[in-house]
Amino acid sequence: MSCCCVLDLRLTPAHITPYRYAYSVLQELGPGQDMQIWSSEDPSLLMEQLQYQMRHALVWSATSDGREWLITIHKRGADELLPLGGTLRRDHETMDLQLVGALRLSGAHNWREAVVEVARLDHALRTHILLENELLAPLASVKAAEATAIMRREHDDIVLQLDVIAEIRESPDDKCQELDTWLGLLAATLNKHEYREESLLFPSWERMIAQRSDRESLLAEVRARLKAVTP
Ligand SMILES: [Fe+2]
Ligand SMILES: [Fe+2]
Repeated sequence: MSCCCVLDLRLTPAHITPYRYAYSVLQELGPGQDMQIWSSEDPSLLMEQLQYQMRHALVWSATSDGREWLITIHKRGADELLPLGGTLRRDHETMDLQLVGALRLSGAHNWREAVVEVARLDHALRTHILLENELLAPLASVKAAEATAIMRREHDDIVLQLDVIAEIRESPDDKCQELDTWLGLLAATLNKHEYREESLLFPSWERMIAQRSDRESLLAEVRARLKAVTP
């Protein structure tokens, strides 16, 4: 790797956190460029936070001698597509943001705008669930059978909650309080559901898809179906 930038987190100024320091430098890194970071701590949590902020645009690895870590980072260019796990994680995060936005609007009794945001979320979430049930669940290994069954049950629960929310938003009356309650319930359900999928199923799907001869067309279909409903 030819590296254009090296950051030493051991020299982080006292008034900011290592995360803020790294993020401020990463923001300046152009698409397709590389950098290295030295750290005296295990970078797993830091990189998780940075990936979230950078919308999974980073490819990274780390080496350590047990005392310090050298992290090598590549920022994906516009023509470098995200792998399956990153694509799905990014979709989770987009829907989480839509849900937070809808909750904020209903909490502020802004019924009209809340309903628009909820309709957007409804469409995105149903599309995401259909994709996982139809296209990805059949790819799972035998070892992931139990996690797949749990995922399908949770999808059924989420769809039921979406149906109730759809009924509320089609009500002619302003029912912000009721909408707020059901959106809060959906947020709690999604929180657990997404964590389980990301830790148990995404790695399994990625391993299985990598072995298939039709992986490129499968990945293209995943990206196209998600892109049609979320930016
Ligand atoms: Fe799901
Ligand atoms: Fe998901």
